[in-house]
This record gives sequence, structure tokens and C-alpha cells, in this order.
Amino acid sequence: MQIETLPGVGAEITGVDLNKLTDAEFDAIRQAYADHGVIFFRDQDLTEDDHIAFAERWAPINVNRFFAAHPDYPQIAMVAKEKEQKDNIGGGWHTDHSYDQEPAMGSILVARVLPESGGDTMFASMYRAYETLDEATRTEIENLRAVHSAKHVFGTGENTYYKTTDAGGNRIGNAAAADVLTDVTHPVVITHPLSGKKALYVNPAFTVGIAGMDEEAGKELLTRLFAHAMDKGNAYRFQWQPGSVAFWDNRSTWHWALNDYHGHRRIMHRITLDGCALN
Ligand SMILES: [Fe+2]
Repeated sequence: MQIETLPGVGAEITGVDLNKLTDAEFDAIRQAYADHGVIFFRDQDLTEDDHIAFAERWAPINVNRFFAAHPDYPQIAMVAKEKEQKDNIGGGWHTDHSYDQEPAMGSILVARVLPESGGDTMFASMYRAYETLDEATRTEIENLRAVHSAKHVFGTGENTYYKTTDAGGNRIGNAAAADVLTDVTHPVVITHPLSGKKALYVNPAFTVGIAGMDEEAGKELLTRLFAHAMDKGNAYRFQWQPGSVAFWDNRSTWHWALNDYHGHRRIMHRITLDGCALN
């Protein structure tokens, strides 16, 4: 098994079959996951049952409330876009489930149907985003907590993703559950539960303000942090192939699914794993 560090963020792991992992390989993969935040595998042959079995080696499966589920495997969320559909799922920088009190540890995405070209996923390191902040900003955000919400994305309000895209309805649903979800706060800088390293934990999709700060000042600070975190040096663009699997940590990375394959089908299976409260 080889682990190659990628530029920006992540590592590609080759020479391994996820269906036949030895304990030593599993330990090395766990260490790579903690160190790099996102790991990629190629040429895998995972059935839905294999995908579930691999996920369950890590943590209990966390079923997403808003995504359409696989018709036969409720543990698997469908990240799909059909030929005639315009909007994709995850088409902006975000991290999954930060609106939960105990945000999901990670997500394991398996490619099922890919367009001939396009449909890459961008990843960004929030370890690196934190490490490259200037000293004054680090001091400024040291003890702050940010507010995270799902309402403006998955809820029934006027300008939500649910309401304004063609993903609302068939692919994204259960909007009433988002409306009643209580907004949560997490530290702006977390100490990562696996690596012990500090990471910037705010994201453009779900972070809506800074606790105890007026709205405008909070937005100004977040805009500044987002712009810094989006620096190209923090990012890696992953090109999917049949058999590709990406496993990212939602606490130390962002991701963004590019929507540049109109008129073509792209079907991905996602399993999300339970996480813990963040400090
Ligand atoms: Fe996502």
C-alpha cells in the first residue's frame, strides 16, 4: 500500500483493496485520514453492501435527513444529477452537517455513474487555512463561536436551495425538518478530535454568524475568513474515474462539487458517519 501526499490537501492511497483490508492497512489508512483530512482510493470494486461494511468499520452511519436515500439501502444518500437537471448537490464550498450539534465525522463517496468529462470535486484544507492565518486574526478568533444553520439551505423559506433549485423536491426534501432545526454554535477554531491539530471550522454554506457579535460585524469577519480559506494553495481538485472513492473529514476540510457537465448524468453514493461535539 502506498500513500502519496497531494498538493494543497489530501493523499491518494494505492495498492489496496478496501474489501480485503488487513488490520495494519486499516491503521495506516486511519492515520492518513487524520493527517491529511481527505483520502482518495482508485480502482475499487465496492457493492452497496461493501460500501456499508467499510463505513461501519469507522463509525455508526449517520442518515442524512434531506437527501433522497438509495431505494434499497436507506443508509446511502444519493448525490445525483440527471441529464435534464440543471443544479447539482454540493455546488459550493461547504462541509457536511456542520448545522448539527455533533457534526458528522466524515463522508465516504463512491462514484457510480460519471459524465465523460467534468464533475470533479474540489477539496480544501482547514488545517492549512488555520495555519496560514496571520497572528492578529488568530488572536481575534481564538475564543469565538460561530452559528451554523440548515434553514436557509434546506428549509422552506423563499430563497433556500430547496426552493430555488431543481434539486428541491425529488433529490432534496424534508424541508419542514430544516425549518424546525435549532441553530447550533461551534468554536471558530477547533482542536481536531483525531489529530489534535487546530483547524478553522466555519464554512460558506452553513455558517451564518458569530455568536455574540452583531450581524454585520459577524458577516464581515466570516467573509474575510472564507476568502482566506479559499486560497488556491489550500485546495486540490480531484478527478473521478470509475472505481474512485473519496473519504473526507468534515471537520478539517471543505469540498465543492463542480457543476460543469450539463446534459450528462452523474450518480454518486454517499455514506456519512457519526461525529462528536467539537471543542
Ligand atoms: Fe457535501
